[in-house]
Amino acid sequence: MAVMVAGGSGFIGSHLVRGLADLGEKVVVFDAAPNMALLEDVRTKIEIVKGDATQMVDILQAIKHYGIEEVYHLIALLADVCQQKPHLALKVNVETLVNFLEAARLTKFKKIIFASSVAVYHSSEPPPVEEDAPLNPGSVYGATKVLGEFFGLHYQKNFGVDFRALRFTTLYGLGKFGGSTGICSLMIEKAARGEAVRGDILEAETDWLYIKDAVHSLILARKIESPKHRIYNIGGGSYSVAQVIQAIKNIIPQADIEMEAKRRFPWPPAYSWERAQQELGYQPLYDLEEGIKDFIQEARNKSL
Ligand SMILES: NC(=O)c1ccc[n+]([C@@H]2O[C@H](COP(=O)([O-])OP(=O)(O)OC[C@H]3O[C@@H](n4cnc5c(N)ncnc54)[C@H](O)[C@@H]3O)[C@@H](O)[C@H]2O)c1
Repeated sequence: MAVMVAGGSGFIGSHLVRGLADLGEKVVVFDAAPNMALLEDVRTKIEIVKGDATQMVDILQAIKHYGIEEVYHLIALLADVCQQKPHLALKVNVETLVNFLEAARLTKFKKIIFASSVAVYHSSEPPPVEEDAPLNPGSVYGATKVLGEFFGLHYQKNFGVDFRALRFTTLYGLGKFGGSTGICSLMIEKAARGEAVRGDILEAETDWLYIKDAVHSLILARKIESPKHRIYNIGGGSYSVAQVIQAIKNIIPQADIEMEAKRRFPWPPAYSWERAQQELGYQPLYDLEEGIKDFIQEARNKSL
């Protein structure tokens, strides 16, 4: 049985595809703009479909052709673009998910794991935020995630689609550049390569989730039979950007990083993932220091 990763050549997708291929799974990447550079090392182990998920026919054709029964939905425009182009945000972030949910209703494939975000919570929510906290997004991006979860739960309750959603915090890891949190990753990657970094966020605190822990949680969320809940916070640990810069400098003392305190993250600084721990068996495998060390190693290996 093949598993589809929709948006599988993006940042999270390419890491997930590698993780699934390493486990010997049959993986089909579905992406509107397949980035072969990110999938180079696993290219021979996977199938790649160039398809647009706003088009139902592209989805149905791929599902039928490969006999797909489970889908990871990782398609989205990130926060900055959504804020500028709300109409497009609705189309890409919500409509593509609803297309997959409808495809699940129409065909025999039944399970969808959706990459949601802690941007569904308001920044004023008292930390650590649990899943039952009010949904009150401070951005268009967060609103699309609220809507996506709503549709997923609707298809689950009314049409028997097995929907699960993971609310990721701020991810860092090799290959993440864009979006409002891209700088959090870029400063580590550039420091690893001996390049200077300048940015606009310093004192703000957020939860830092290493990409390998996000992949681990996606794999766990697909495996569990009949989960009690459908929505889980997935985090790594809360730190200010200044603390992370210090952690980088502990490993690379000459790292040339300068940040100005111009903006804050538009979501709360800390979360509880106890539900994911109890029901999925999720626990971060990397603390901040281990995550940064692993990331630096990967960035250096890639530049060799
Ligand atoms: N990166 C983070 O920090 C973070 C945090 C929380 C949640 N998320 C969520 O995780 C998911 C993946 O994020 P990412 O950082 O890997 O994003 P990304 O931008 O790197 O990847 C998204 C992929 O979707 C593809 N895509 C876009 N429109 C498409 C369409 N119409 N049809 C088919 N493919 C299309 C793109 O080509 C790209 O490869 C998103 O849903 C995002 O909202 C990410």
